[in-house]
Amino acid sequence: MKILAPSILAGNHANLSNALQVAEDDGRKWIHLDIMDGHFVPNLSFGPQTVADLRKGSELFFDVHLMLDQPDKYIDPFVEAGSDLISIHLEPEYDHQAALNRIKDAGVKTGLVINPDTPIDGLLPYLDQIDLVLFMTVFPGFGGQKFIEEVLVKSKEISKLRTEGKGNYLIEVDGGVGPEHVQPCLNAGVDIFVAGTAYYQRNDIGRKEFAESIELV
Ligand code: DX5
Ligand code: ZN
Repeated sequence: MKILAPSILAGNHANLSNALQVAEDDGRKWIHLDIMDGHFVPNLSFGPQTVADLRKGSELFFDVHLMLDQPDKYIDPFVEAGSDLISIHLEPEYDHQAALNRIKDAGVKTGLVINPDTPIDGLLPYLDQIDLVLFMTVFPGFGGQKFIEEVLVKSKEISKLRTEGKGNYLIEVDGGVGPEHVQPCLNAGVDIFVAGTAYYQRNDIGRKEFAESIELV
């Protein structure tokens, strides 16, 4: 399964439902929602009420990325808001296992995220239980940054572990992803391509071409 997941961080924050509509009209199945607290990352985005309101009008798969210092304190509100998958970062200090259990016990898919400079070691104990590994290909906080190609070395390693039966997770990349990165990412075992700027800045034809270069492989 190869998927382009538009990141609505790149949308108009006064009308985020429009960003979802664009994705739906384009035939996308996933949408990526970036939640930022201004502590773990140097930016603020939106919270559970926004997600809950967007949920009311959309059947898309809500891929919710918590860029929070204390994600464990916000699992319940984002579950109740209608998340289909919740990804949490390894870098902050909290009980990762308890947070993953809480997401899973609520019937929501689980994801673990690491930043470009975080090694994969911390992921290894969880590979047999998570649904998704998310590799940040920028230092998180803002859209429109430059894709860090070196991250794909880590994706290749995690992809190899998957073929060796260490888990049954999807691999996702997020940050600076454009059409020129599709082939290197596919070669590194990537399944889910989060794209904000490169997706929403294109017109209908451009968006469709970008998505189909991923989803029709
Ligand atoms: C962290 C955010 C961004 C966003 C996508 O900064 O997670 O990576 O989703 O960014 P662009 O617009 O570069 O695709
Ligand atoms: Zn994200």
